[in-house]
Amino acid sequence: MRYDSRSAPALSHRGASEEDFIVTLPNFAFFKGGIVPYGEAKVGVLTHTLNYGTGVFGGLRGYWNDEEKQLFIFRPYDHYQRFLESAKLMLMKLPHSAADLVKFTLDLCRAENFRADCYIRPLGYFADEIIGVRLHDLNAEVTIMAIPFGRYVENEEGSHVTVSSWRRVDDNMIPARGKIAGAYVNSAFIKTDALRSGFDEAIVLNQDGHIAEGSAENFFIVRKGVVCTPPITDNILEGITRRTVIMLMKAELGIEVVERPIDRTEVYLAEEAFFCGTGVQVAAITQVDHRPIGNGSLGPIAKELRRVYFDAVRGRAPKYRDLCIPVYPAKSS
Ligand SMILES: Cc1ncc(COP(=O)(O)O)c(C=O)c1O
Repeated sequence: MRYDSRSAPALSHRGASEEDFIVTLPNFAFFKGGIVPYGEAKVGVLTHTLNYGTGVFGGLRGYWNDEEKQLFIFRPYDHYQRFLESAKLMLMKLPHSAADLVKFTLDLCRAENFRADCYIRPLGYFADEIIGVRLHDLNAEVTIMAIPFGRYVENEEGSHVTVSSWRRVDDNMIPARGKIAGAYVNSAFIKTDALRSGFDEAIVLNQDGHIAEGSAENFFIVRKGVVCTPPITDNILEGITRRTVIMLMKAELGIEVVERPIDRTEVYLAEEAFFCGTGVQVAAITQVDHRPIGNGSLGPIAKELRRVYFDAVRGRAPKYRDLCIPVYPAKSS
């Protein structure tokens, strides 16, 4: 079955019904060193990572550029560099370089023949089918899947979020800077409670009581005209989009982002707040715990950032073109 992300539902939003979470299965997967029909990419139920959450994963986006009839994968080398760092944290020896993983990803997207936006999910896992919780003396494998993908949150221009009652995992518990499968139990608690309480998302505090991030997004505020984001030592994922936003803010908006701890009540007083991440892209937060942020609507900085961000990721900004890796051969002019 072929798909079209224009008809793909947003994966989560306020009041989402069960159907909204159903995603069409891929046709293929990269599995055990090659591209196979998705149905053949199977693991046994004793697989170490399935039992103990010891996997590492990534999340990349492919953006369809209709003018050029081209699919661009945004910053795949950076995503795979972080993927390999997450693996390193887990003592997971993966036999592939970032360049190999980019190549497998391009091959997979070509096999899927996407002509629409997509999401790519690499997963590194311990394939051993054994009992025994540990990180050492295990055999690692990589699989990659890709699906058509639209929005991750329904309302990218005005989401209403809450401060979660859960706390972010700490670096000395499960390092948040890596994308470690087991740590996403923490994100799942945060997200489900937020949605069930009628919010779009949640902001989560770290053990110190400062803002860390969202369940799967990095977080920024504008306070007294200064754009701030929590530092990478505050138990956040070292987000690729966060890095992109810091870069675009400086280069396109002339704003130097300050990385510093953020108090919860600073958020209540902020002029603007927004999430960023591969999934959520750049999503404005216009209410927190029923309090309007600024005047309660999309602010000027988030608005302008969204414009330059979408130009960059879709390959429309020549300056950032080298961050967008084409899937298909370029059409000769
Ligand atoms: C916990 C968490 N924070 C932040 C992000 C954003 O990271 P990136 O911009 O690399 O997608 C993600 C993305 O999945 C995430 O899971």
